[in-house]
Amino acid sequence: MSCADALSCNNRRCEIEVSSLSRSFGNTVAVDDISFNVGRGELFAFLGPNGAGKTTTINMLIGLLIPDSGEVRYHGQQFDPKQLAVKRLIGVVPQHNNLDRELTAAENLLIHGRLFGMSGKQLHQRIDTCLAFADLTAKRDTPTAKLSGGMKRKLVIARALLHQPEILFLDEPTVGLDPHSRRKMWAFLRRINKEQKCTVFLTTHYIEEAEALADRVLIIDQARVIAEGSPQQLKQSAGNVVLDIYRDDDICNEFFADRPAALQRLEQLDTSVRIRETTLEDVFLQLTGKRLEP
Ligand SMILES: Nc1ncnc2c1ncn2[C@@H]1O[C@H](COP(=O)(O)OP(=O)(O)O)[C@@H](O)[C@H]1O
Ligand SMILES: [Mg+2]
Repeated sequence: MSCADALSCNNRRCEIEVSSLSRSFGNTVAVDDISFNVGRGELFAFLGPNGAGKTTTINMLIGLLIPDSGEVRYHGQQFDPKQLAVKRLIGVVPQHNNLDRELTAAENLLIHGRLFGMSGKQLHQRIDTCLAFADLTAKRDTPTAKLSGGMKRKLVIARALLHQPEILFLDEPTVGLDPHSRRKMWAFLRRINKEQKCTVFLTTHYIEEAEALADRVLIIDQARVIAEGSPQQLKQSAGNVVLDIYRDDDICNEFFADRPAALQRLEQLDTSVRIRETTLEDVFLQLTGKRLEP
């Protein structure tokens, strides 16, 4: 069964079900009546500009923030943040690295493992496994303050994987990383999804990140969900092929279902034109009238 199919089937295949979730801070509506499902094994991206409501949503899904209204279900059961069983089900990578800088890589994992009730040989084996998986074995005794940005991020992820969660939440996993480290991080996240068989829920404001990684994308803008689907479906709904038509100082876009239709239109034009495949950036622009990435 494909990940897309998992969405439409019964609750046993649905890892997370979110219904009509809302949360305000004073007069600011941070999350406004959003609903979506995440299927088992999916790599799910929550895409939206800064301030759209991504962190607020994630915080409600992991029990750090109480919703004003709406419901979160895990495996069909209503989420109660006080229930340890659900906390064991999930691993969390917050937006900002919250490592203990004085402690070594291994010590950071050790403390986390103890908090999850792990001990002895099992804990030490998991620390070794997770450090190796994150390619950090050589850094196990290095104080985390001395690790590079990419290594710190990977260590936070390795820590979140220590107790073998079924679902990994990552809030903006690649912010602050250079383009090379970002791509390496994408490969790492794919491995977590495939090799560790982890459902991955990530937030991002990078369109290409969602496009490159996600089985399914939920686009959020100004606290509301504005589109949902696989990157392919979202692009198809806009039109798979786009013409950038250069007029005076402006570029306007026209969308077409396929290349022959776009080429037919191109023949009618006597200005400079570029033909290209539609991106998620185009989809966002079409839906909101603004660009996600400046
Ligand atoms: N603790 C808070 N107090 C007041 N306003 C908040 C708080 N957290 C978030 N907000 C506001 O809620 C909106 C959504 O924020 P956030 O969920 O952090 O967005 P994102 O993660 O998509 O950048 C923003 O307008 C933000 O300023
Ligand atoms: Mg955020």
